[in-house]
Amino acid sequence: MIMDKLQIESTTLWDFPRQNYGDKPHGNNKYNGVTPAFVIWNLLQRYTKEGDLVVDPMCGSGTTIDVAKELNRKVIGYDLNIVRPDIIKNDSRKIPLKDNFVDFVFIDSPYSDNIKYSEDEKCIGKISCEKTEFYDELEKTASEIARILKPGKVMGWVIADQWIKKKFTAVGFLMWQRLEKYFEPMDIICLTRHNQTSNTGVWHNRARQYNFYLRGFKYLFIMKKPIKQ
Ligand SMILES: C[S@@+](CC[C@H](N)C(=O)[O-])C[C@H]1O[C@@H](n2cnc3c(N)ncnc32)[C@H](O)[C@@H]1O
Repeated sequence: MIMDKLQIESTTLWDFPRQNYGDKPHGNNKYNGVTPAFVIWNLLQRYTKEGDLVVDPMCGSGTTIDVAKELNRKVIGYDLNIVRPDIIKNDSRKIPLKDNFVDFVFIDSPYSDNIKYSEDEKCIGKISCEKTEFYDELEKTASEIARILKPGKVMGWVIADQWIKKKFTAVGFLMWQRLEKYFEPMDIICLTRHNQTSNTGVWHNRARQYNFYLRGFKYLFIMKKPIKQ
């Protein structure tokens, strides 16, 4: 794909069949829970300009770093699980940056304890989304994001619901309630899910037979730090 021909999304339904776009890697599509690079590309096109500082407090395989650099944005990527040298080891609940310093934050957080990211005990992905503690810990990250963002600037947060062992948890709605304490709502995007391990004939048949639904989408919350607090 030629970069000039890429167009930003115009609706609230984004469906990217592949993790990557273009001919260079953005992040690592083998990383568990990797973000589709075009999600970040769309957000940076809309809410940032060249030279802006972009931060990802849970940057995993570094998708945000690669997309931001390609678009000539400055970028800092943190994670507990360090898979490449340009990622800084840090717990998202305390971000080592000044207040009102950052132009845009992207975060694709754990959705529950369904994926093992690392051995690090501080990993929020070790806490089940059925526990209040999960939202309490993610809320600490949200409050840090609100602190480091410049007033009026935007953040994008990806999260998804859970259906496991016959129990549904509305993770997205529960997290949205926490985020509303710090940010003004701008929009909610529905991201079509692809390539998850349950996307097999066996699972689709089970879903029909036992009357449940496989997860078909994730949320992308777009919110803004209020100008006056
Ligand atoms: C869904 S993955 C992010 C994927 C990333 N956007 C990418 O494209 O590769 C969630 C990440 O959160 C990280 N994480 C979990 N708890 C954390 C914490 N307390 N501080 C920093 N990172 C954390 C995990 O190590 C994991 O890499």
